Amino acid sequence: MKKLRSQEWFGRQDKNGFLYRSWMKNQGWPHDLFDGRPVIGICNTFSELTPCNAHFREIAEYVKRGVWEAGGFPLEFPVMSLGESVLRPTAMLFRNLASMDVEESIRGNPIDGVVLLMGCDKTTPSLLMGAASCDLPTAGVSGGPMLSGKFHGHDLGSGTGVWQMNEQVRSGQMNLEEFFEAESCMHRSKGHCMTMGTASTMASMVESLGMSLPGNAAIPAVDARRYTLAQMTGRRVVQMVHEDLRISRILTREAFENAIRANAGIGGSTNAVIHLIALAGRLGVPLCLDDFDQLASCLPCLVNIQPSGKYLMEDFFYAGGVPVVLRELGEAGALHREALTVNGKSMWENVAEAPCWNRDVIRPFTDPFKPNAGITVLRGNLAPDGAVIKLSAASPHLLQHRGRAVVFESIEELHARINDEALDIDENCVMVLKNCGPRGYPGMAEVGNMPLPPKILRKGITDMVRISDARMSGTAYGTVVLHACPEAAAGGPLALVQSGDMVTLDVAKRAVRLEVDEPALAARRAQWTPPPLPERGYLRLYVKHVLQADKGADLDFLVGRSGAAVGRDSH
Ligand code: FES
Repeated sequence: MKKLRSQEWFGRQDKNGFLYRSWMKNQGWPHDLFDGRPVIGICNTFSELTPCNAHFREIAEYVKRGVWEAGGFPLEFPVMSLGESVLRPTAMLFRNLASMDVEESIRGNPIDGVVLLMGCDKTTPSLLMGAASCDLPTAGVSGGPMLSGKFHGHDLGSGTGVWQMNEQVRSGQMNLEEFFEAESCMHRSKGHCMTMGTASTMASMVESLGMSLPGNAAIPAVDARRYTLAQMTGRRVVQMVHEDLRISRILTREAFENAIRANAGIGGSTNAVIHLIALAGRLGVPLCLDDFDQLASCLPCLVNIQPSGKYLMEDFFYAGGVPVVLRELGEAGALHREALTVNGKSMWENVAEAPCWNRDVIRPFTDPFKPNAGITVLRGNLAPDGAVIKLSAASPHLLQHRGRAVVFESIEELHARINDEALDIDENCVMVLKNCGPRGYPGMAEVGNMPLPPKILRKGITDMVRISDARMSGTAYGTVVLHACPEAAAGGPLALVQSGDMVTLDVAKRAVRLEVDEPALAARRAQWTPPPLPERGYLRLYVKHVLQADKGADLDFLVGRSGAAVGRDSH
């Protein structure tokens, strides 16, 4: 059998072998565990400050069971955990930092294969990105969605329900007592957001990429089958080490195309665009913004889940989950059937027979939930390098729209003015928010779904065209143009928009335009000054090196991979 990487540490018959083994033995490990069996690192994003991942120590125990059963040696290690709900100013600011933690933790340690435990939004891309830059045999286990929220006899979806109820409070349809009562009703079990928000989307991407065992995305966090899947993944990753089935053999261009199409099928988050491009960049797989439009904007949304639809992830699981969506795509010719997955089988071998148990939750390709519902890429003088809109969550009547811009220079200005009854705005206006991109916020926060002014909500209007360089929560909805590139803080044209300018959105023509002539824009550009660099620390590193959203918002020096070799000993 091939000598494994971990033997460069544990197999040594010298002073360094003593060092590498002896301290490990303080945990009670017998000497024969260092005999050359596969060492499986379990990369754990457990944190009590990341509530969506707070059950991960339990999941890790099941992965370990599987690793032991298959003859491996499991070693769990922590990495930076990013909790979407509490981490300020935005978890996205730290995705790349966490990916560095993952990459260096894997590379620097005696690990032959890795199981990634992922849940809350950014914990999935950061782990995939870090692992991809090392390129060891790797499989993912997601933490699973929470049980459906239940409030006053109805389903209540993570995030989506907050945005809806907040608008009801602001328009006077709900009182604060009811609003706060819903807190305990929305999130009532372990797991991540149970709408098709970014966490569920990214878990579905993991499965569509072939990076997990089939069915991984939708099993509720508290369902026993989640723990079975963790155990089976532990068993399987030991075999992957023996087969030298590295992440780069799974994450091919075909795998990314499958994921992009699956994202349309599930009505997934716009955040998947940024994360998939960043992940592809680590592997050297060519992938760009236009791939999303060309491959998937014409595809239908099959899944009737919030925020695009009405059901929740628990319903999606009972209906059959991601395998059904992939089967539908495959039967429609929109899937690379031969793409390899971590269980060693092709995607099609995994999903060809996947049964659907509820056609109201997962519609057939021939009679979809929403036609032409993929993520669409817009360009024009307002976003020369592109912007995105999620059609499945937008209002059809606003997809062709011309309106007067109402501009907010910062998130603080938006908060200060949006509730002002004197704000000069009506429902035909286009709300424009600047300086919320990667460099501007910094970290590209999920603030693109700007709240509507109360005086418009009171008219019963719930959507307006909104444009920004920000992101939007995967749980959010509306006719929201996001990720405008280049961002305002990088001197993009968004920085030059003034209140009163006319803006045109024409989704059919893939256009977002500012109706201001070039000489006038040049005069405004001459007046623009870039924001100062943060003084120190990670923030400074981030702002100096972050790429724009169309390039995945990775740090420029992290693009690519270095492999897992480490030439030198520690002593
Ligand atoms: Fe963690 Fe939504 S807050 S998944």
